[in-house]
Amino acid sequence: MTSQSSAVTSRPRRRAGALVAAGALVLACVVTGLVLKWPFGDSDSDGKAADKNVGTSTHGGTVGLAMPTKSSERWTTDGEAMKKQFEAKGYKVDLQYGNGDVSRQVSQIENMIDNGHKLLVVAPIDGIALGDVLERAKKAGIKIIAYDRPLLNTDGVDYYVSFDNREAGRLQGDYIVHKLGLDRGEKGPFNVELFAGSAEDPNTPYFFDGAMDELKPYIDKHQIVVRSGQTELNQLTTLRWDGAAAQKRMNELLSESYTKARVDAVLSPYDGMSLGIVSALRGAGYGGEDRPYPIVTGQDAELASVKSINKGEQAQTVYKDSRRLAKAAVRMGDAIMTGGKPKVNDTTSYDNHEKAVPSYLLQPVNIDKSNTRILVADGYYTAAELEE
Ligand code: GAL
Repeated sequence: MTSQSSAVTSRPRRRAGALVAAGALVLACVVTGLVLKWPFGDSDSDGKAADKNVGTSTHGGTVGLAMPTKSSERWTTDGEAMKKQFEAKGYKVDLQYGNGDVSRQVSQIENMIDNGHKLLVVAPIDGIALGDVLERAKKAGIKIIAYDRPLLNTDGVDYYVSFDNREAGRLQGDYIVHKLGLDRGEKGPFNVELFAGSAEDPNTPYFFDGAMDELKPYIDKHQIVVRSGQTELNQLTTLRWDGAAAQKRMNELLSESYTKARVDAVLSPYDGMSLGIVSALRGAGYGGEDRPYPIVTGQDAELASVKSINKGEQAQTVYKDSRRLAKAAVRMGDAIMTGGKPKVNDTTSYDNHEKAVPSYLLQPVNIDKSNTRILVADGYYTAAELEE
C-alpha cells in the first residue's frame, strides 16, 4: 500500500473554486429554466460524439458486470445503470454482486469466462486478488475494464474508468481546512481525527493522499492536532468500508482522547462510514446547541447521508454521479466491442504495477448543506426523497 506522498501537489483551490462556480452555474440554469448541462466533463454531447465513432452496435455479445456488494446503495445504482445502458445498445448483460466476499467474486468472474462473455467490467472487492482469474480472462481474449476501483498487479486490464480519486480526497481535506477557517488566518489548534477506507481497495490511498495534500501542511504546523496520534494510513483503514467498524473506532477515539477535549473535525472517506462516526459522536453528547457536531466529511452522496447533511449532522459529501460513470463505462465498452478507440483523458495516474492503465476520469463535486439542491436539479434525487 502506498503511503501518503510527501509532495504537496497543485492546490485544488482554483479547481474547487471552479467547481463552486460550476455548481452556481447549474443552479443558475435551473433557476432560469435553461436546460441543465453537466459542466464537469462526460456530457451528453461528449457521449454523442463518441458514439458516432463506434457506430450503433446491434450485434449483441454478453457483457459481465462484476460489482463488489449490494450492501451500499451506490453499487446497486452503478450496476443497474450499466445494465440498462448496455442492454439499450443491444448487449446481453450478466450482472453479479460479490457480497463483499472475494472468493465469491473470483468464482463469479470464472463463470463469466466459462460462459464466453466478451467483455468484463469489474469493480473489485480486493484490487489485488483478481490477478489469476483476470489472466485467464485475458488468455481467453476477453477485454477488461476496471470500474471505479483499479485492478492491480495484472496486465489483463485494458482500461480504467472512474472519478478523479485523489481529487475526491482533496475535496474532503479542503472542506475541513476551509470550514475551520485555517485558509483564512484561523490559527487553531483544532482537533481532527482521520479515517481511511478498506485496505484492499486500491482507491483508499488515492483518497487519503488527496485529503492529506490539504491537511498535512496544517498538521506539520500544529494547527491541526490528531490527538490519538494515529496519522499513518495503516492505522486508519476500515475493513470493507464498514460503518459499524468506523463507529466502533470513533467510540474508542472519543473515550481515549476526548473525555475533556473536543473533536473539531473527522476526515471520513465514505458516507457509510460517516454515518457510523456521526452515531458515535451523538452517543458521546455531540449534536446539541452547546456541543455541535464536528465537521464530518463523506463520499458518494448516498441518500441517507444527504438527509443527514440537510439535518446538520454529517457536514459534507462528494458527489460522484453513478449514472455518468456508468455511461462512460458503457461508451468505453461499446467502443472496445466494436473495434473503436475508447476515449481516455489520463494515461499516467493509474500505474497498476504492471502497466499504466489508460483511464477516463470524471470530476467529483463537493456537496454540503448549501448546495444539496444540485442533486435534485441534476435528477439524482427528487426533492421528496430528500424530505422523507
Ligand atoms: C470506493 C469508491 C467510493 C466508495 C467506496 C465504498 O472504491 O470509489 O466511491 O463507494 O469504495 O464503497
